[in-house]
Amino acid sequence: MNIDTSKILTDDEVAAQRAMTPGTHFVTHFNHAGSSLPPQPVIDAQNAHLDLEARIGGYEAAAAAADQEDAVYASIASFIGATPGEIARAEHATVAWCSGFWALPMEKGQRILTAEAEYAANAVSYIRAKERFGISIDVIASDDAGQLDLDALDAAMGTDVALVSITHVPTNGGLINPAVEVGKIANAAGVPYLLDACQSVGQLSVDVNEIGCDMLSVTGRKYLRGPRGSGFLYASEKILPQLNTDHPDHHSAHWVESERYELLPNARRFEYWEYNHAAWIGLGAAVDHAASIGIDRIEATVQTRAEELRDALRGIGITPMDLGDNRSGIVTSSIPGMDPAEVKKALGEQKINASVTAPDSTLWDALKRDLPPLLRTSVHYTTTSEEIDQLIDALTTIRG
Ligand SMILES: Cc1ncc(COP(=O)(O)O)c(C=O)c1O
Repeated sequence: MNIDTSKILTDDEVAAQRAMTPGTHFVTHFNHAGSSLPPQPVIDAQNAHLDLEARIGGYEAAAAAADQEDAVYASIASFIGATPGEIARAEHATVAWCSGFWALPMEKGQRILTAEAEYAANAVSYIRAKERFGISIDVIASDDAGQLDLDALDAAMGTDVALVSITHVPTNGGLINPAVEVGKIANAAGVPYLLDACQSVGQLSVDVNEIGCDMLSVTGRKYLRGPRGSGFLYASEKILPQLNTDHPDHHSAHWVESERYELLPNARRFEYWEYNHAAWIGLGAAVDHAASIGIDRIEATVQTRAEELRDALRGIGITPMDLGDNRSGIVTSSIPGMDPAEVKKALGEQKINASVTAPDSTLWDALKRDLPPLLRTSVHYTTTSEEIDQLIDALTTIRG
C-alpha cells in the first residue's frame, strides 16, 4: 500500500466531521459504498432549497438559485480537473455512464476492451451493444495482484477498438484499477476511454487530465456523501463532437427549425430539462465539503481505516477478499459457514450497517474467482477505530 501517513486526518478532525454528521449519532455505518451519511452542509443546502420551493414555487425557487446551481458545475469541474462545460448533471451514475456510452459511435466488427471487475450495469450495456451493433467484448485478464493487466491491454489494442471502458473501483472489493496507466495506453492508440468512477470519486484523488479519460461517471450518494438521486457525467471537450445523444430534448438541444435541432456544444447535451434541483444543490455542497477537507487527506484516511479493518478481520479469522496492490475503502469478506445476508441482518439489529455484494454485480470476476455473496463493510474518513472494534466484537458474537 502506498499511503502518505502525514495526510491522515487527526482524531480531532475526525471527531469534528462526525459531529457535523447526524447519522453517526444513530448508526455505526459500514455502508459508505452503498450510500454514505451526509454531512450537515449537504443536508442544509438540500433542505433550504426544498423549503424555498415549498414557499415560493419550484420554478421561482430555481430562478432564485440559478447562480448557486450554476456554481455546482464549477465545483465539480475543479474537484476533478475539468471545465464546467465538460460536466453534465445526471440522476445517478448509471444514467451518466449510459448517456456517455450510448452516444459513442460503434459499428459491427469493432471491439470494446474492458476489465474483469466490471460493474453489472456496464456489462449489460456491452452485451446489448453486441446485440444491437455487432461489436464484440474483450474482457482483459487481470494481473497477479488482480488489477487489469496493462500488458494484456496493450496487446489487445488495435484499430478495431471502439472503446476502452473500465471500472476504477469495483462494487465488490478494495481493488483500484490502474486508471492512469490505462489512460496512457488508450490515448496512445487514440481510442476513447470511459471510466466508471462511481466508487472512487470522493474517496480517491481523481484528476481527469492525469487519467486521460474522455468520459467519467459518478454518483452523489456514495463516497461524495451527497444526496441520493444525484450524479454527473464528465465528457471532455475533445470527445464531445463525437458524441451524439440518442434522446435529446429541448434543453440538450435547441429546436431551431421546423424539423431541425442543434445539440448544445457542451456536456449539457446529456441533460434533460427537468431534474431534482435540491439534489443538485446538495451535490454541490457535498463536493465543496470534500474539497474543503482535501481529497488527498480523505484518501489517506480512508485507506488507513480500510487496512485497519482488514487487519482486524484477519485477527478473528475472517479473510478479506479484496484484490489489488493498492486498496480502497471497500472491504469484502466471506465468512466461512455463514450466509452474509444473515450476518448483515444480525449486524443491523445492533445498528451496525453493512451490505452484501452479490456475485452477479460483478459476474466476470465472480465466475473467475468462484465468489459467493460477500459481506461488504466499507469505511470512510468518518469511521473510527472504536467503530471497527464494535464491528469486530459484533462479528465475533454473531459467529458464536
Ligand atoms: C462500480 C459501480 N458503478 C456504477 C454503479 C451504479 O451507480 P448508481 O446506482 O448511482 O447508478 C455502482 C453502484 O453501486 C457501482 O458500484
